Amino acid sequence: MESQTFTTRTEEETIALGRRLAPALRGAVLLIGNLGAGKTTLAKGIVEGRRVATIDEVSSPTFTLIHQYGGQHSPDVVYHIDLYRLDEPREVESLGLDELFGGGALVLLEWAERFPALLPRRRTEIRLRPLEDESREIVVTPVE
Ligand SMILES: Nc1ncnc2c1ncn2[C@@H]1O[C@H](COP(=O)(O)OP(=O)(O)OP(=O)(O)O)[C@@H](O)[C@H]1O
Ligand SMILES: [Mg+2]
Repeated sequence: MESQTFTTRTEEETIALGRRLAPALRGAVLLIGNLGAGKTTLAKGIVEGRRVATIDEVSSPTFTLIHQYGGQHSPDVVYHIDLYRLDEPREVESLGLDELFGGGALVLLEWAERFPALLPRRRTEIRLRPLEDESREIVVTPVE
C-alpha cells in the first residue's frame, strides 16, 4: 500500500487526524519525529479514536514506559510506549514487547525506530515533520 501524506496546522488538527486514522490502524505503529514533533499529540487522537480513553487521560509516557488503555480483549487495547530513555536493546527486550506485538492490540511506539531488530516486520510508520509556523507534515506508511 502507498503512503498517505497529511498536513496539520495546529495541535487540535493533529489530534483530529489521530482520531480519523485510528479505526484503520493495526498492530505496531511507529511514531517517528524529533522532540516536540507531535508524536504524543497524535497518539492522544488515536487513543481517543479507539474510544478507549479521552485525551485528558492520555499522558506522555516519558516516565512510565508503557501506558495501557482499554479493556480485557486485545483488539480493544491500546498501548502507548516511549523508548526515549532506553539505550540498550537488552533494556528494551526486558519490556516484553513481543507479547504485546503478538497479542493483537494496537501498539503505539515513540523512539522505537532506534531498535529496528526488536520490531515486527509488518508495521505502520508515521513520520511527523515540523514545517513553517506550527504546521506538521504527517506521512503514514504501511511497511511489510
Ligand atoms: N500541528 C501541530 N501538531 C502537533 N503539535 C503541535 C502542532 N503545532 C504545535 N504543536 C505543539 O508541539 C508540541 C508537540 O508535543 P508532543 O509531546 O506531541 O511531541 P513529541 O513528538 O511526543 O515529543 P517527545 O519526543 O518529546 O515525546 C506540543 O507542545 C504542541 O502544542
Ligand atoms: Mg512524546
